Amino acid sequence: MAHPMIAPSILSADFARLADEAARVEGSEWLHVDVMDAHFVPNLTLGLPVVQSLLAATDIPLDCHLMIDDPGRWAPGYAEAGAYNVTFHAEATDDPRAVARDIRAAGGKAGLSVKPGTPIEPYLEILKDFDTLLVMSVEPGFGGQSFIPDVLGKARAVRELVDSGELTLVVEIDGGINADTIEAAAEAGVDCFVAGSAVYGAQDPALAVRALREQAAA
Ligand code: DX5
Ligand code: ZN
Repeated sequence: MAHPMIAPSILSADFARLADEAARVEGSEWLHVDVMDAHFVPNLTLGLPVVQSLLAATDIPLDCHLMIDDPGRWAPGYAEAGAYNVTFHAEATDDPRAVARDIRAAGGKAGLSVKPGTPIEPYLEILKDFDTLLVMSVEPGFGGQSFIPDVLGKARAVRELVDSGELTLVVEIDGGINADTIEAAAEAGVDCFVAGSAVYGAQDPALAVRALREQAAA
């Protein structure tokens, strides 16, 4: 992998000190922000007002991962606010292309995410309308879960389409990424690695980011 990207997930950070926590991972390619609504997933985290404050507090491009129902209603607002990448779930909408179009019209990059049990084949055709594919390697909702290696087949399939020039997009993986799992994901062709507990659970988060990036590049 030429230049692996690391996206620390602030889900594992101290929510009372988000500006400081963003500063602790300076040098990361993206900062991953998990938005959960207690409907699409059982957990509840943060929404647009917190993202707006984070945008003012850091220069790291925000990678917003919307684990919410009705993304068509909410996703464009994140792009309008200035989030770099806005990813929503394929399972949450009947019309993912329309949502992607609205995110792009609002100035953001559009990402599609699939849960571990969701096949990628039905979506291959529409991926040309997206900038990112986020492959979930845990059930969305909580940090600190174990990596599900079965999902790597999806990353591999999309990597092939990118390498053959049929698609242009970032292949991203989220869930259970750490020193023990990142190499398998890199080998499957992942470009961008989300890591929550492996980064914020470390003594020195910036060092953890560099170590993961080096491992992915090896
Ligand atoms: C889970 C979130 C992830 C989470 C990853 O639903 O989407 O971004 O923060 O945390 P780790 O890296 O601890 O599995
Ligand atoms: Zn996430």
